[in-house]
Amino acid sequence: MKLVIDNVSKQYGNNVLALRNFSLELRPGVLGLLGPNGAGKTTLMSILATITRSTAGKVTWNDVDLAINPDAVRAVLGYLPQDFGVYPNLNAVEFLEYLAAVKGLDAPTAKRRIDELLNLVNLADVRKRPLGGFSGGMKQRVGIAQALLNDPQLLIVDEPTAGLDPEERVRFRNLLSDLAGERIVILSTHIVSDVEATATDIALISKGALVAHAAPEELLRQVEGMVWEWVIPSNELTAAKQRYLVSNTTRRSDGVHVRVLAPQPPAGAQPVLPTLEDAYLYSLSNHRMGAAA
Ligand SMILES: Nc1ncnc2c1ncn2[C@@H]1O[C@H](COP(=O)(O)OP(=O)(O)O)[C@@H](O)[C@H]1O
Ligand SMILES: [Mg+2]
Repeated sequence: MKLVIDNVSKQYGNNVLALRNFSLELRPGVLGLLGPNGAGKTTLMSILATITRSTAGKVTWNDVDLAINPDAVRAVLGYLPQDFGVYPNLNAVEFLEYLAAVKGLDAPTAKRRIDELLNLVNLADVRKRPLGGFSGGMKQRVGIAQALLNDPQLLIVDEPTAGLDPEERVRFRNLLSDLAGERIVILSTHIVSDVEATATDIALISKGALVAHAAPEELLRQVEGMVWEWVIPSNELTAAKQRYLVSNTTRRSDGVHVRVLAPQPPAGAQPVLPTLEDAYLYSLSNHRMGAAA
Protein backbone atom coordinates (compact mmCIF):
# COMPACT_ATOMS: atom_id res chain seq x y z
CA MET A 1 0.00 0.00 0.00
CA LYS A 2 1.72 3.15 -1.18
CA LEU A 3 0.62 6.68 -2.02
CA VAL A 4 3.21 8.79 -3.79
CA ILE A 5 2.81 12.52 -4.29
CA ASP A 6 5.42 13.49 -6.81
CA ASN A 7 6.27 17.13 -7.39
CA VAL A 8 2.66 18.28 -7.39
CA SER A 9 1.75 21.91 -8.04
CA LYS A 10 -1.69 23.48 -8.21
CA GLN A 11 -2.46 26.88 -9.56
CA TYR A 12 -5.89 28.49 -9.28
CA GLY A 13 -6.54 31.11 -11.95
CA ASN A 14 -3.56 33.20 -12.94
CA ASN A 15 -1.90 34.00 -9.67
CA VAL A 16 -2.79 31.70 -6.74
CA LEU A 17 -0.18 28.97 -6.39
CA ALA A 18 -1.84 26.74 -3.77
CA LEU A 19 0.73 23.92 -3.98
CA ARG A 20 4.37 24.22 -5.00
CA ASN A 21 6.39 21.17 -6.02
CA PHE A 22 4.92 19.14 -3.21
CA SER A 23 6.33 15.62 -2.77
CA LEU A 24 5.51 13.02 -0.14
CA GLU A 25 5.52 9.24 0.02
CA LEU A 26 3.05 7.55 2.35
CA ARG A 27 2.74 4.03 3.78
CA PRO A 28 0.14 2.70 6.25
CA GLY A 29 -0.11 4.86 9.36
CA VAL A 30 -1.65 8.17 10.37
CA LEU A 31 -0.23 11.24 8.69
CA GLY A 32 -0.98 14.54 10.39
CA LEU A 33 -1.01 17.22 7.69
CA LEU A 34 -0.40 20.29 9.78
CA GLY A 35 -0.37 23.87 8.56
CA PRO A 36 -1.95 27.29 8.98
CA ASN A 37 -5.14 28.35 7.19
CA GLY A 38 -4.52 28.87 3.50
CA ALA A 39 -1.45 26.59 3.46
CA GLY A 40 -2.91 24.28 0.80
CA LYS A 41 -4.17 21.35 2.89
CA THR A 42 -7.65 21.18 1.36
CA THR A 43 -6.23 21.58 -2.13
CA LEU A 44 -3.86 18.66 -1.58
CA MET A 45 -6.55 16.46 -0.11
CA SER A 46 -9.00 17.16 -2.90
CA ILE A 47 -6.32 16.21 -5.42
CA LEU A 48 -5.72 12.94 -3.55
CA ALA A 49 -9.48 12.34 -3.49
CA THR A 50 -9.53 12.89 -7.31
CA ILE A 51 -11.89 15.85 -7.01
CA THR A 52 -9.35 18.42 -8.13
CA ARG A 53 -6.63 17.96 -10.74
CA SER A 54 -3.08 19.10 -10.16
CA THR A 55 -1.55 21.58 -12.60
CA ALA A 56 1.81 19.77 -12.60
CA GLY A 57 3.34 16.63 -11.13
CA LYS A 58 1.54 13.38 -10.43
CA VAL A 59 0.06 11.22 -7.70
CA THR A 60 0.17 7.43 -7.78
CA TRP A 61 -1.71 4.86 -5.71
CA ASN A 62 0.20 1.56 -5.77
CA ASP A 63 2.00 2.84 -8.86
CA VAL A 64 -1.24 3.70 -10.71
CA ASP A 65 -1.42 7.33 -11.85
CA LEU A 66 -4.56 9.02 -10.48
CA ALA A 67 -4.88 11.28 -13.52
CA ILE A 68 -4.97 8.26 -15.85
CA ASN A 69 -7.02 5.90 -13.70
CA PRO A 70 -8.85 7.76 -10.91
CA ASP A 71 -11.15 4.77 -10.27
CA ALA A 72 -8.24 2.76 -8.84
CA VAL A 73 -8.07 5.07 -5.83
CA ARG A 74 -11.79 5.89 -5.70
CA ALA A 75 -12.52 2.21 -5.05
CA VAL A 76 -10.42 2.23 -1.87
CA LEU A 77 -11.00 5.81 -0.75
CA GLY A 78 -12.88 7.20 2.24
CA TYR A 79 -13.13 10.98 2.31
CA LEU A 80 -14.51 13.40 4.87
CA PRO A 81 -14.38 16.83 3.20
CA GLN A 82 -13.87 20.01 5.20
CA ASP A 83 -17.33 21.29 4.25
CA PHE A 84 -19.19 18.02 4.86
CA GLY A 85 -22.94 18.55 5.07
CA VAL A 86 -25.79 16.22 5.99
CA TYR A 87 -29.41 16.12 4.84
CA PRO A 88 -31.19 17.46 7.94
CA ASN A 89 -34.44 15.55 7.36
CA LEU A 90 -32.85 12.13 7.05
CA ASN A 91 -31.92 10.07 10.07
CA ALA A 92 -28.46 8.50 10.40
CA VAL A 93 -29.51 5.14 8.95
CA GLU A 94 -31.34 6.67 5.97
CA PHE A 95 -28.43 8.99 5.22
CA LEU A 96 -25.85 6.19 5.34
CA GLU A 97 -28.09 3.88 3.29
CA TYR A 98 -28.32 6.58 0.65
CA LEU A 99 -24.55 7.06 0.52
CA ALA A 100 -23.93 3.30 0.54
CA ALA A 101 -26.14 3.01 -2.54
CA VAL A 102 -24.21 5.83 -4.23
CA LYS A 103 -20.99 3.95 -3.46
CA GLY A 104 -22.43 0.79 -4.99
CA LEU A 105 -22.76 -1.39 -1.87
CA ASP A 106 -25.51 -3.99 -2.14
CA ALA A 107 -28.36 -3.61 0.35
CA PRO A 108 -27.54 -6.53 2.74
CA THR A 109 -23.84 -5.56 2.92
CA ALA A 110 -24.80 -1.92 3.46
CA LYS A 111 -27.21 -2.82 6.28
CA ARG A 112 -24.61 -4.88 8.12
CA ARG A 113 -21.89 -2.29 7.62
CA ILE A 114 -24.11 0.60 8.76
CA ASP A 115 -24.95 -1.29 11.97
CA GLU A 116 -21.24 -1.86 12.67
CA LEU A 117 -20.32 1.74 11.91
CA LEU A 118 -23.06 3.30 14.00
CA ASN A 119 -21.76 1.29 16.93
CA LEU A 120 -18.17 2.24 16.16
CA VAL A 121 -18.94 5.98 16.09
CA ASN A 122 -21.24 5.66 19.07
CA LEU A 123 -24.44 6.79 17.36
CA ALA A 124 -26.42 3.56 17.59
CA ASP A 125 -28.80 5.08 20.18
CA VAL A 126 -29.74 8.03 17.97
CA ARG A 127 -29.84 6.17 14.66
CA LYS A 128 -33.49 7.08 14.01
CA ARG A 129 -33.25 10.77 14.88
CA PRO A 130 -33.16 13.42 12.11
CA LEU A 131 -29.60 14.64 11.49
CA GLY A 132 -30.75 18.27 11.64
CA GLY A 133 -30.85 17.98 15.44
CA PHE A 134 -27.31 16.55 15.74
CA SER A 135 -24.47 18.49 17.41
CA GLY A 136 -21.32 19.35 15.42
CA GLY A 137 -19.49 16.38 16.93
CA MET A 138 -22.32 13.98 16.11
CA LYS A 139 -22.43 15.21 12.49
CA GLN A 140 -18.68 14.69 12.19
CA ARG A 141 -19.11 11.15 13.50
CA VAL A 142 -21.74 10.55 10.80
CA GLY A 143 -19.14 11.97 8.39
CA ILE A 144 -16.56 9.45 9.54
CA ALA A 145 -19.08 6.64 9.31
CA GLN A 146 -19.86 7.48 5.66
CA ALA A 147 -16.12 7.68 4.89
CA LEU A 148 -15.71 4.15 6.31
CA LEU A 149 -18.63 2.51 4.45
CA ASN A 150 -16.33 0.78 1.97
CA ASP A 151 -13.65 -0.07 4.59
CA PRO A 152 -11.19 2.23 2.79
CA GLN A 153 -7.45 1.63 2.47
CA LEU A 154 -6.97 5.37 2.09
CA LEU A 155 -8.89 7.52 4.57
CA ILE A 156 -8.71 11.29 4.14
CA VAL A 157 -10.22 13.60 6.74
CA ASP A 158 -9.97 17.35 6.27
CA GLU A 159 -10.03 19.49 9.45
CA PRO A 160 -12.45 17.11 11.16
CA THR A 161 -12.27 18.82 14.53
CA ALA A 162 -13.08 22.34 13.34
CA GLY A 163 -16.20 23.58 15.09
CA LEU A 164 -16.19 20.86 17.76
CA ASP A 165 -16.21 21.68 21.45
CA PRO A 166 -13.21 20.47 23.50
CA GLU A 167 -14.92 17.31 24.73
CA GLU A 168 -16.15 16.34 21.25
CA ARG A 169 -12.70 17.06 19.90
CA VAL A 170 -11.06 14.61 22.32
CA ARG A 171 -13.66 11.95 21.55
CA PHE A 172 -13.17 12.42 17.83
CA ARG A 173 -9.38 12.13 18.13
CA ASN A 174 -9.72 8.88 20.04
CA LEU A 175 -12.04 7.53 17.38
CA LEU A 176 -9.50 8.36 14.68
CA SER A 177 -6.66 6.65 16.46
CA ASP A 178 -8.83 3.52 16.75
CA LEU A 179 -9.21 3.56 12.96
CA ALA A 180 -5.50 3.40 12.22
CA GLY A 181 -4.01 0.04 11.35
CA GLU A 182 -3.63 -1.39 7.89
CA ARG A 183 -4.59 1.75 6.05
CA ILE A 184 -3.21 5.13 5.16
CA VAL A 185 -4.99 7.84 7.15
CA ILE A 186 -4.40 11.49 6.32
CA LEU A 187 -5.74 13.98 8.84
CA SER A 188 -5.38 17.69 8.15
CA THR A 189 -5.56 20.33 10.82
CA HIS A 190 -4.15 23.68 11.90
CA ILE A 191 -4.27 22.59 15.55
CA VAL A 192 -1.14 20.85 16.83
CA SER A 193 -2.90 18.99 19.62
CA ASP A 194 -5.16 17.27 17.06
CA VAL A 195 -2.22 15.26 15.73
CA GLU A 196 -0.08 15.09 18.86
CA ALA A 197 -1.51 11.81 20.14
CA THR A 198 -2.66 10.18 16.89
CA ALA A 199 -0.11 10.82 14.14
CA THR A 200 2.70 8.39 13.36
CA ASP A 201 4.10 10.95 10.92
CA ILE A 202 3.68 14.66 10.55
CA ALA A 203 3.90 16.70 7.37
CA LEU A 204 4.19 20.43 7.92
CA ILE A 205 2.82 22.53 5.08
CA SER A 206 3.14 26.28 4.66
CA LYS A 207 2.29 28.42 1.62
CA GLY A 208 1.83 25.34 -0.53
CA ALA A 209 5.24 23.88 0.25
CA LEU A 210 6.29 20.90 2.35
CA VAL A 211 8.28 22.26 5.29
CA ALA A 212 9.05 18.98 7.06
CA HIS A 213 8.01 15.35 7.03
CA ALA A 214 9.05 13.39 10.08
CA ALA A 215 7.89 11.40 13.07
CA PRO A 216 6.76 13.64 15.96
CA GLU A 217 9.80 12.51 18.01
CA GLU A 218 12.11 13.69 15.25
CA LEU A 219 10.44 17.11 15.08
CA LEU A 220 10.84 17.39 18.84
CA ARG A 221 14.53 16.50 18.61
CA GLN A 222 15.07 19.40 16.20
CA VAL A 223 14.21 21.91 18.92
CA GLU A 224 15.85 20.13 21.83
CA GLY A 225 18.04 22.54 23.84
CA MET A 226 16.32 25.53 22.23
CA VAL A 227 13.25 26.05 24.39
CA TRP A 228 13.41 28.31 27.45
CA GLU A 229 11.09 29.55 30.09
CA TRP A 230 11.72 33.14 30.98
CA VAL A 231 9.96 35.10 33.70
CA ILE A 232 9.70 38.83 32.99
CA PRO A 233 7.62 41.79 34.17
CA SER A 234 4.58 42.27 31.94
CA ASN A 235 5.80 45.65 30.63
CA GLU A 236 8.75 43.84 28.98
CA LEU A 237 6.58 41.38 27.07
CA THR A 238 6.24 43.44 23.87
CA ALA A 239 10.00 43.89 23.60
CA ALA A 240 10.57 40.19 24.28
CA LYS A 241 8.18 39.23 21.48
CA GLN A 242 9.98 41.51 19.06
CA ARG A 243 13.34 40.02 19.92
CA TYR A 244 12.48 36.34 20.31
CA LEU A 245 10.23 33.71 18.82
CA VAL A 246 7.65 33.22 21.59
CA SER A 247 5.55 30.07 21.59
CA ASN A 248 3.47 30.77 24.67
CA THR A 249 2.89 33.25 27.49
CA THR A 250 1.25 32.66 30.87
CA ARG A 251 0.59 35.33 33.45
CA ARG A 252 1.42 34.33 37.02
CA SER A 253 1.80 36.26 40.28
CA ASP A 254 5.59 36.50 39.80
CA GLY A 255 5.35 37.93 36.26
CA VAL A 256 4.80 36.66 32.75
CA HIS A 257 6.16 33.19 32.00
CA VAL A 258 7.34 33.39 28.42
CA ARG A 259 8.23 30.32 26.35
CA VAL A 260 11.09 31.33 24.09
CA LEU A 261 12.58 29.45 21.13
CA ALA A 262 16.20 30.42 20.59
CA PRO A 263 19.61 28.76 20.20
CA GLN A 264 20.91 30.81 23.17
CA PRO A 265 18.78 31.52 26.24
CA PRO A 266 17.80 35.07 27.25
CA ALA A 267 19.59 36.02 30.50
CA GLY A 268 17.98 34.26 33.45
CA ALA A 269 15.83 31.86 31.35
CA GLN A 270 15.60 28.19 32.28
CA PRO A 271 15.69 25.28 29.81
CA VAL A 272 12.42 23.35 29.39
CA LEU A 273 11.43 20.27 27.39
CA PRO A 274 10.09 21.04 23.91
CA THR A 275 6.50 20.34 22.90
CA LEU A 276 5.22 19.64 19.41
CA GLU A 277 3.72 23.14 19.38
CA ASP A 278 7.25 24.56 19.89
CA ALA A 279 8.59 22.38 17.06
CA TYR A 280 5.76 23.46 14.75
CA LEU A 281 6.29 27.17 15.38
CA TYR A 282 10.04 26.84 15.00
CA SER A 283 9.81 25.02 11.66
CA LEU A 284 7.25 27.48 10.29
CA SER A 285 9.26 30.48 11.39
CA ASN A 286 12.46 29.06 9.83
CA HIS A 287 10.58 28.37 6.63
CA ARG A 288 9.18 31.92 6.51
CA MET A 289 12.61 33.43 7.08
CA GLY A 290 14.06 31.19 4.37
CA ALA A 291 11.32 32.26 1.98
CA ALA A 292 11.89 35.94 2.78
CA ALA A 293 15.66 35.72 2.28
N1 LIG B 1 -11.19 27.26 -5.79
C1 LIG B 1 -10.22 28.14 -5.51
N2 LIG B 1 -9.99 29.19 -6.32
C2 LIG B 1 -9.00 30.08 -6.05
N3 LIG B 1 -8.18 30.01 -4.99
C3 LIG B 1 -8.37 28.99 -4.14
C4 LIG B 1 -9.39 28.00 -4.34
N4 LIG B 1 -9.33 27.09 -3.34
C5 LIG B 1 -8.32 27.50 -2.53
N5 LIG B 1 -7.74 28.63 -3.01
C6 LIG B 1 -6.57 29.34 -2.43
O1 LIG B 1 -5.51 28.40 -2.37
C7 LIG B 1 -4.77 28.55 -1.16
C8 LIG B 1 -4.81 27.25 -0.38
O2 LIG B 1 -6.15 27.03 0.09
P1 LIG B 1 -6.58 25.68 0.84
O3 LIG B 1 -6.09 24.53 0.05
O4 LIG B 1 -8.02 25.78 1.10
O5 LIG B 1 -5.72 25.79 2.20
P2 LIG B 1 -6.03 25.18 3.65
O6 LIG B 1 -6.95 24.03 3.50
O7 LIG B 1 -4.67 24.79 4.17
O8 LIG B 1 -6.62 26.29 4.47
C9 LIG B 1 -5.38 29.73 -0.43
O9 LIG B 1 -4.65 30.88 -0.78
C10 LIG B 1 -6.79 29.78 -0.99
O10 LIG B 1 -7.29 31.09 -0.93
MG1 LIG C 1 -8.72 23.60 4.39
